[in-house]
Amino acid sequence: DDMSVGYGGLPNEDGVVELDSSGMYGPTHTAGAVAALRNIKNPSKVARLVMERTDHVLLVGEGALKFARAHGFKEEDLLTEKSRAVWLRWKETMSDRDNWFPPKSDSVPEELRSVMSTHGTINCIALDAAGRLAGVTTTSGLSWKLSGRVGDSPIIGAGLYVDNDIGAAGSTGRGEANLQTCASFRIVDFMGRGMTPEQACLKVCEVIVAKTKLVSRLCDDRGLPKFGLNFYALNKKGEFGAACLYQGGSYAAHDGVENKLRDAAYLYKRRERNR
Ligand code: GLY
Repeated sequence: DDMSVGYGGLPNEDGVVELDSSGMYGPTHTAGAVAALRNIKNPSKVARLVMERTDHVLLVGEGALKFARAHGFKEEDLLTEKSRAVWLRWKETMSDRDNWFPPKSDSVPEELRSVMSTHGTINCIALDAAGRLAGVTTTSGLSWKLSGRVGDSPIIGAGLYVDNDIGAAGSTGRGEANLQTCASFRIVDFMGRGMTPEQACLKVCEVIVAKTKLVSRLCDDRGLPKFGLNFYALNKKGEFGAACLYQGGSYAAHDGVENKLRDAAYLYKRRERNR
């Protein structure tokens, strides 16, 4: 039922779910990733095998699928009836200048009719009692994306970065902005220069805003990004934090005593955003 990510997530513009994922293991400073992978429910497991069973870091598209098949992953259609119906409605109502007529009777529930564009990503970073850091980021990316579009999640340094001497960071939200700033790498670097995880995440949010101001189509009437982007960080001491461009973000963190949802820091008050 969850249309934000993975199985049942909203597909690309052709109605196909394409998944991106990366993993990184601190003690060996090794990484594995897959991008634009179709028909495999758990891309993070394939990414881990790229790290553990090959001399490569990133496999994409048909090559990633071939590798997953070789490791016995079962192929399945990741589009559910619900996500197919929402995609078809989007396709049919996108334009009145194409050959797709709008639906006569709408099979899509009212609350889903306004679903226009979503990101759905999960980033998880962890530190164990032996001081080992690791992380994973996994996503079906941006809905209605062009076939073959790869976001930040499988790109080491963008959607995920781990340095066992310093800390780990990851991201969710508009991947294009992250790809253009290598944000996770920067967060870890900022932590290495003495910032707390939250300070480092906020600092990178400021960088994103400054760079986005250079592209007017991405800015609202205040000159601020129309999109959302969120960062999560953890340092070698087990301190953690998160920050978003806009108010309202939360993240789950286990501090060794309890696991709970916490408010993320932010730069700006929430306002309606396009993406
Ligand atoms: N951050 C996920 C994506 O843009 O694909």
